[in-house]
Amino acid sequence: MSKVTVVGAGNVGATVANVLAFNEVADEVVMLDVKEGVSEGKAMDMMQTAQLLGFDTTVVGCTNDYEKTAGSDVIVITSGIPRKPGMTREELIGVNAGIVKSVAQSALKYSPNAILVVISNPMDTMTYLALKSLGLPKNRIIGMGGALDSSRFKYYLSQAIGCNANEVEGMVIGGHSDTTMLPLARLATYKGLPITQFLSDQQIDEVVKATMVGGATLTGLLGTSAWYAPGAAGSLVVESILHNQKKMIPCSVALEGEYGENDICIGVPVILGRNGVEKIIELPLNADELAKFKASAVATHNTNAALKTVGAL
Ligand code: 2OP
Repeated sequence: MSKVTVVGAGNVGATVANVLAFNEVADEVVMLDVKEGVSEGKAMDMMQTAQLLGFDTTVVGCTNDYEKTAGSDVIVITSGIPRKPGMTREELIGVNAGIVKSVAQSALKYSPNAILVVISNPMDTMTYLALKSLGLPKNRIIGMGGALDSSRFKYYLSQAIGCNANEVEGMVIGGHSDTTMLPLARLATYKGLPITQFLSDQQIDEVVKATMVGGATLTGLLGTSAWYAPGAAGSLVVESILHNQKKMIPCSVALEGEYGENDICIGVPVILGRNGVEKIIELPLNADELAKFKASAVATHNTNAALKTVGAL
């Protein structure tokens, strides 16, 4: 029996659970939240869609009862506060660091062999916090950000080209940050052809900029952080792990020399399978891309340094 725990039943956590159930990624999905009744209510609501949508996954909700999460194969952490319009993800660190660390510790007590997928923001720093504080091997700690940013990149590319988003390939690496993430336009393709055949330099530049502030644009519209694409991206990551699909997905993972970086979790393409991170793919970046990746890594190191200031490390 396969089991996934989603900690935090807010918009993102509930959407992860909903997509996991709808796609029958796991036999059982447990949603846990601190707010009395919320995860139970959302789980019941989802279970009432089972016969409408035809899925067999069981969704269970519980208020802070980690025992119910026991024996999970994957634990998805979505806890913490989302950003409000005008806020950066980095500003959430003071509140979210303590929450992420404590919920991850509690969940791992009951599922010591689980693979951890981190969604809470600032995502790269929360992934790094998990790496430094939980004692898990690095292959079992995965930050989801690049999966989401890459789907936004493909969305904006498809809008600009006027094509089906499923026929576009593209990846975003670097930190999950409005200012330093790196949409790899040079390597993006439409039906295997370079996007430069379809878009001008100016159009590509606009797509890159829109991708980078994709989360902030939605926060401005919604008044809170987005959830449909973050939830679906979380489910995509869990599915590749649980079903041993070995998909190549950009995720925030611990680097030990790859891309010239150490002591950091940051977005790079990885192969995800039953062992979590099975391989880190080193892309042949050109000098400009490498410089941008380095700048993103410097910014991420700086945010990570705040973990000490707030007493989380
Ligand atoms: C976003 O970019 C949740 O950080 C997330 O929408």
